[in-house]
Amino acid sequence: MIVATKQLFSHAYGKYAIGAYNINNLEQTMGLFQGNIDSKAPFIIQLSKGARSYTNKKMLEAMIRTADEIFPDAIFAVHLDHGDEETCMDCIKSGFYSSVMIDASAEPFEKNIEITKRVVDAAHARGISVEAELGKLGGVEEHVSVAEADAKLTDPAQAEEFVKKSGCDSLACAIGTSHGAFKFSGSQGLHFDVLAAIQKRLPGFPLVMHGSSSVPQDEVARINAAGGQLKGAKGVNADEFKRAATLGVTKINIDTDGRLVWCRVHRESFRDDPKNFDLRPPGKVFMKEYAKFIAEKNVKLGSAGKLEDVRVMLKSAK
Ligand code: G3H
Ligand code: 13P
Ligand code: ZN
Repeated sequence: MIVATKQLFSHAYGKYAIGAYNINNLEQTMGLFQGNIDSKAPFIIQLSKGARSYTNKKMLEAMIRTADEIFPDAIFAVHLDHGDEETCMDCIKSGFYSSVMIDASAEPFEKNIEITKRVVDAAHARGISVEAELGKLGGVEEHVSVAEADAKLTDPAQAEEFVKKSGCDSLACAIGTSHGAFKFSGSQGLHFDVLAAIQKRLPGFPLVMHGSSSVPQDEVARINAAGGQLKGAKGVNADEFKRAATLGVTKINIDTDGRLVWCRVHRESFRDDPKNFDLRPPGKVFMKEYAKFIAEKNVKLGSAGKLEDVRVMLKSAK
C-alpha cells in the first residue's frame, strides 16, 4: 500500500528511521519488497532522475504497482530522490509520488529557498510533501580546517530560517556524509553536535540523512577478491543510525550498499561459473541477497518489526 511520507514520519519521529532505498530494475524491486516484508518494516522507495530514465519512468511505476499487488502487506511511500524543479513538477503532476525532493543545495541560500518554495506550493496543492536540502554533502577530510569543515556542514541557524521561509516538510542536512563508496579517508564520522543543534532549533521536524551506506568491509573484500578494484572504500557506521534517529533523523538514504551487493553477487557468480551466460542464476541469487541486505539494514534503522504498528496507526487515522 502506497502511503503519504508524512504518515510514516509521524510514526517514526524520534524513535527510529525509515529506510529510503533507491531502485532501478526488476530484481531490486523484488528483493526490496521481500526484504521489507521479511523484516516487517515500513519503507520508502526512492527513484532518482537517472533511475527514471534508465529504462522509462513508466516501467518503474508499473513495477512498483505490480510489486504492491504481489506483496499486499507492504506499506511504503514513493519518493523522488534529488530532483530538479522540472522533475519535481513532473512527479507532482503524475499523482504517483508520495513526496519529492527538490535539491537546490548547490544554489545560494536565498535562491535555494525561492526554488524550494515554488515546489512546495505546487506539491502542497496536491497533498504531496517536499524534502529540501541545505548544506554541502561531502565527507569532511582530516586535513580540512575546522572553518572549512563548518562551511560544508549545515548551519543550524540557517536550517531554521530555511524551513520557515521555504515551507518544506523535511530537510536533508549535511553532517559529514557523502554519496558513493568512498566517504571517509580517516577516522571521521557523523557530526552529532551539528545534528543536535539543528534538532534544538527545529524540534519535531523530520531530518534526512543522505549518503548513509556503510560500505561493509567484508563486502568490499569479496568484490576485490572477485576482480573488483574498490580499494579504500569506507562508509557510515550503521550502529550510529539509532542515535541519529533520536536526534530527529527520520529518513536514512541507502543506495551504494545495494549496488555493492549486486556487484559482489555478479562478480562471484561469473568467477565461479565462467561457462555460464544465463542471466537468471545470478539474478536469483541477487534477489535473495538483496532481500537479506534490506532486512538486516532495517534492524540497524530500528524500522524492523514496526509494520503492524504503522498499519494500526493508519487505520485509526481513517
Ligand atoms: O544520491 C544519489 C543516489 O545514490 C542515486 O544515484 O543518480 O546514480 O541513480 P543515481
Ligand atoms: P549512498 O551513496 O551512501 O548510498 O547514499 C544514497 C543517497 O543519499 C541517495 O539519495
Ligand atoms: Zn542523496
